[in-house]
Amino acid sequence: MRPYQEQYIENAEKIMSLSDTSGEIPADVDVFIKIHDENAAAIRRIVRENTELLRQEFFPVLDNIVSADEETIRQLEDFAAHLASGNLSLDIFLHYKIHNALISYARHWKKRGMLIRELYHTALALFYIQENMDIIEDRSYSWKMGMLFGEAASFIKVYDQIQDVETRGYIHRSMGNLALSYNIFTDGEKKLWAMRRSIEILQDPVYREKTPSLPWDTYLYKSHQERSTAMGLLRRGDTDQRLIREVMESAEYVWERQRENSRKKDTTPALRWRVIYQESQYYCGLQPLSYLLTQLEKMYMDCGREDFSQEGMYGNLFIPAVYGNYLQHYPEYKKGKRDIMCHMNRNVVDYVHRVPNNQLNDKLMWYLLTFLRGFVEYPGEMLQKHIVTRLIACRNLDAYVFSRLTAQMTRMLMGKVIEDCPRLLEGVLSCATVQDVEKRREELLQFAFDGGMLHDVGALGLCRMLLMSARSWMEEESAMFKYHVEAGVRILERCESTRPFSPIARGHHVYYDGSGGYPAEYDRAANPVQIVTDMVSIAAYASRMTEQATHHTMPIYTPGEVMEQIRQGAGHLFHPELARIWLSMEAELTAYLQCGRREAYLEAIRLIRGREEER
Ligand SMILES: [Fe+2]
Repeated sequence: MRPYQEQYIENAEKIMSLSDTSGEIPADVDVFIKIHDENAAAIRRIVRENTELLRQEFFPVLDNIVSADEETIRQLEDFAAHLASGNLSLDIFLHYKIHNALISYARHWKKRGMLIRELYHTALALFYIQENMDIIEDRSYSWKMGMLFGEAASFIKVYDQIQDVETRGYIHRSMGNLALSYNIFTDGEKKLWAMRRSIEILQDPVYREKTPSLPWDTYLYKSHQERSTAMGLLRRGDTDQRLIREVMESAEYVWERQRENSRKKDTTPALRWRVIYQESQYYCGLQPLSYLLTQLEKMYMDCGREDFSQEGMYGNLFIPAVYGNYLQHYPEYKKGKRDIMCHMNRNVVDYVHRVPNNQLNDKLMWYLLTFLRGFVEYPGEMLQKHIVTRLIACRNLDAYVFSRLTAQMTRMLMGKVIEDCPRLLEGVLSCATVQDVEKRREELLQFAFDGGMLHDVGALGLCRMLLMSARSWMEEESAMFKYHVEAGVRILERCESTRPFSPIARGHHVYYDGSGGYPAEYDRAANPVQIVTDMVSIAAYASRMTEQATHHTMPIYTPGEVMEQIRQGAGHLFHPELARIWLSMEAELTAYLQCGRREAYLEAIRLIRGREEER
């Protein structure tokens, strides 16, 4: 690698450890906040340095990739490999950019072997990026991923001209991975078709004879693994007979191989395949649901609470998600399994807090969002509203502080609106008249507070990839951040305690006059709590502009400067009447912004500690 590349990697690793809050919290909270602030300042410095390194040395090469010499190309390949090695990707987006540029290089110089390899790597990088958006079923990157895998796979037509075994391997792997570009829930038919075809070719003796040294059985095994994840469709209630048969066939295949391997190595088969195998036994009618639930409980109990490997994450987060999913689909079990489900729910928060940053990956966030989307709520037990708040606190202290400041200021604004301009609240929480507003004062204040607390929950899943980024965002990443709105809506819509807040998540980035912000298709008139959403927008803006611990590349303003920005944005960015009331509260808001932050940190730490004390 070039010195700048080594420096970049070192910096990215440093950021990961500086932003790690999974360890013990010191007794003196002020010491903690001081260290935390110093770390945040150091992160900002490193982010600037990395951004500069890329600007000066990296992008000029990438922009002119076809004229790069071979040594530069080798170094770029090495750099890309370091940016995404194993489960832990330091910078998957940069990794993607490099491979994407190498495609152009290979095309230009007509290097066929390299082209096939780069198409494969670029598509695979897109797959990992895409995973972040799976939760909202957005397929923006899938189309391109499919094109790239498809192009690499199309070289099967000239298979005999390609002698290199490794390149032939990339052709087969691309063919198998084509299925990855279809989402099982939105494009199930196409995905199953692609998997069927891949399994067919991998079993074809003609190809096996042509390249006997390729690991055919491993490819076939992987295709069966992929097909057995179509179990997700069965979990959602699909009863197509062909689907059930295919998923079962693959689950059996994988299970047999797992058992064989674990016998040889004297280990237990991986949890994921144990779960899928047990589910397939249920779907084909061999075992009742009660048996499956007991098996899931056993597997959950066997799993170490200190295990932060992929296996541990699957057990600690995904099994509760699968278990909850069955309880939601078969409510007759919900009551009887209350204690077990609540036990799992409490453990999830604790587990997520203790995952060290160097183990933190997109998969964990994916499991977590899956868990939240299927969260089973019991009255009198931990509500989704509380679990979300705790999760924000334990995974990202700064995000908690941001939400907490927003919540408090929304509440303050609500108080003043009830006093000065209660007619603005007619229609909110079924208040028909000004008298109703006065009567339901406490309820309105609490609603404002919770709305501020929950409005940005969708950003939780992006914290690894974007919020811990080691450089300023690229255009695509800024676009991706916008998905936190829809992700938040999806999470909040699921449970009774959070559903009323989903319109706030949806509308908090839309300008008052509709001239900008996102999402573009947002409809103000359809939001029953639009005025509260407008309050959250102002409060979140003030909190974001004065705090910025989570967006390390954005400027920080003083409370006075932010007041001025709100004055200028009245009627355009912000609701004019609310902005006027907000400005009339300048003294108390400024005072709050000065001391609120410390209080919010204290509270976040108490939330995390509270859980530790319970243990
Ligand atoms: Fe947001």
